[in-house]
Amino acid sequence: MRRFSIWILLALLAAGTRAQGELEATTLPFIGGDPERGRLVFASCRSCHYTDPRLGHGNGPNLHRIFGKIAGKQPGFDYYSVQLQAAEFVWTPQLLYAWLENPMQATPGTTMMSNGVPDPGQRADLVAYLQQVSMLEFAP
Ligand code: HEC
Repeated sequence: MRRFSIWILLALLAAGTRAQGELEATTLPFIGGDPERGRLVFASCRSCHYTDPRLGHGNGPNLHRIFGKIAGKQPGFDYYSVQLQAAEFVWTPQLLYAWLENPMQATPGTTMMSNGVPDPGQRADLVAYLQQVSMLEFAP
């Protein structure tokens, strides 16, 4: 099972790299979670991540308009791991969904000290929420 998810992630990483530059964050397809439930799941991320662009970076990089951005490249965030600094893939909902199953396993050496969201349903909800909230100019 572990091996299996690593292969899915690698495939998604490759797909993300290929899609680079072609993605429109607003038209990305979605995985089918419930954003209202996702708001609660995102509580575990809020201690480190803002989605409101005016608040800048926290312990983690700002997540405003994160979908469609190349990973690990946000100006002003100084704590990216070597892996994310070198990353060439674009964040898509699918890729974030895969990564958050176990970030520390998917990217050993990541500076994100989080166990992610192992539950698939909760993870889909979280991604749905982040898709909405990351596009807002102000915190809801
Ligand atoms: C303890 C603080 C912390 C928590 C909790 C946390 N993160 Fe992070 N996050 C980080 C750090 C630090 C990085 C940079 C990771 C790296 O460079 O390896 C990061 C990176 C990211 C990125 C990539 C950003 C980019 O610019 O490429 C995303 C997306 C992300 N986190 C989402 C989440 C979500 C969703 C959650 C909740 C499930 C979460 N994070 C929980 C600290 C945190």
